[in-house]
Amino acid sequence: MDDLRGVNSQSSISELDDLARLLDRPRLNIERKRSFDERSFSEMGIFDSVNSSGGRSGWETPASSTRNSFEPHPMVAEAWDALRRSLVYFRGQPVGTIAAYDHASEEVLNYDQVFVRDFVPSALAFLMNGEPEIVKNFLLKTIQIQGREKRIDRFKLGEGAMPASFKVLHDPIKKTDTVIADFGESAIGRVAPVDSGFWWIILLRAYTKSTGDHSLAETPECQKGMRLILSLCLSEGFDTFPTLLCADGCSMVDRRMGVYGYPIEIQALFFMALRSAMSMLKHDAEGKEFMEKIAKRLHALSFHMRSYFWLDFQQLNDIYRYKTEEYSHTAVNKFNVIPDSIPEWVFDFMPLRGGYFIGNVSPARMDFRWFALGNCVAILASLATPEQSAAIMDLIEERWEELVGEMPVKICHPAIESHEWRIVTGCDPKNTRWSYHNGGSWPVLLWLLTAACIKTGRPQIARRAIDLAESRLLKDGWPEYYDGKSGRFIGKQARKFQTWSIAGYLVAKMLLEDPSHLGMISLEEDKQTKPVIKRSYSWT
Ligand code: GLC
Repeated sequence: MDDLRGVNSQSSISELDDLARLLDRPRLNIERKRSFDERSFSEMGIFDSVNSSGGRSGWETPASSTRNSFEPHPMVAEAWDALRRSLVYFRGQPVGTIAAYDHASEEVLNYDQVFVRDFVPSALAFLMNGEPEIVKNFLLKTIQIQGREKRIDRFKLGEGAMPASFKVLHDPIKKTDTVIADFGESAIGRVAPVDSGFWWIILLRAYTKSTGDHSLAETPECQKGMRLILSLCLSEGFDTFPTLLCADGCSMVDRRMGVYGYPIEIQALFFMALRSAMSMLKHDAEGKEFMEKIAKRLHALSFHMRSYFWLDFQQLNDIYRYKTEEYSHTAVNKFNVIPDSIPEWVFDFMPLRGGYFIGNVSPARMDFRWFALGNCVAILASLATPEQSAAIMDLIEERWEELVGEMPVKICHPAIESHEWRIVTGCDPKNTRWSYHNGGSWPVLLWLLTAACIKTGRPQIARRAIDLAESRLLKDGWPEYYDGKSGRFIGKQARKFQTWSIAGYLVAKMLLEDPSHLGMISLEEDKQTKPVIKRSYSWT
């Protein structure tokens, strides 16, 4: 298990060793096309420039100035200015960043709030720049909000639920600041954000890892906050799967999009949060009880995900040939998926080389759509085995037009249209085909792609994506999302100066410049969660 205790500036060195080991690991025994990224770190001289600053070097630090590979792009300074303009203060202290600072837009909706998930890239940018205070303030403010009583109509929500967003109200006359929060009771669809608690735990680890300051995670408030979140997702129910059952719209895709059930985004974040919590829980009686539960869940969850959510050419072929109506323990087609339900597009989409975790698996249902966030988080959390991680990167390369196109990164592929769109989204006019959550392109996902690229030793893929973003993002005013099959058009209702588009770009740049930052957002493979049986991953 990744244990944060005793982590100090030395940690960046050992992580680099880990990274270097990843890069060095024996190549799979196949004729792999030498990808455009395999000039790799050593040729780019990245490792030469990494020092033992504990992953906290900023643009002005000596580490940056001795670096030979990158000149700061002019967009970087613009992005920092825009990010700082989005800061939200509570009693004079910065506690978060507003979702969008778009003065041109008449409709503010809830974009003037601090969203937990949106703040993550902002937080990482500040951590990487050696400014951890705002992250600490945010973590403490949100954990305080968690302690409030939460109701939707007459129904009381679980104690551990974290807000989707909060807003600071300034009263200039009384000179007071108050916080109002949304736990889903104001959100479209009234769905509680399952991802918020997971991101909170992941961010607490990032803070601890980046600063070496364990005192925050060890406070009774943070320990309790973690345990409350864990109680919600580790409670026993009627489940037969270790995955977490969710309503539609409970994460980044916060409208009805047919992701109800066991969406990959939530499962990957769940896995990462469990592993992060494991490294931060105190070894006292309460902490130990949770650690035992976590260990069991991780074991089952990784097996389930690696076995049943994984799809590659071989696996697709197996499903295509599935028998149905099998009963008993010997069933191969455990969820009784009917081969006729495999959509046509996936046969063309699946390359010989590559694979991915599909969107959802439940009885008689496999959602074959690709979701970028879940797959990147699966790589970062080491939910994906090293072979699976490499295969996901292969897929991105092989299906670049579809998954990146002209603006990184497609949130999901493909879009749903016509009759299916009517049935699945409930005729959602914001989620028409190739728009917004339905196959739109989201610049924020650039940081996740970059982190995944670095972890898998393929930084050139990230560089190529960043180049695309740099050709338009600033000029277009940092849109929230792009529309169209290849992401060429600024989204129909996209906000401008969307903070996570700005921060996502900065994080991507800093990660690429100094890969030692990766440690705060990545977990190495845990030997205990290795799959018992391995799916045949065929490269032929
Ligand atoms: C939209 C997005 C959601 C994001 C929010 C604020 O609702 O779907 O993921 O958190 O905007 O940017």
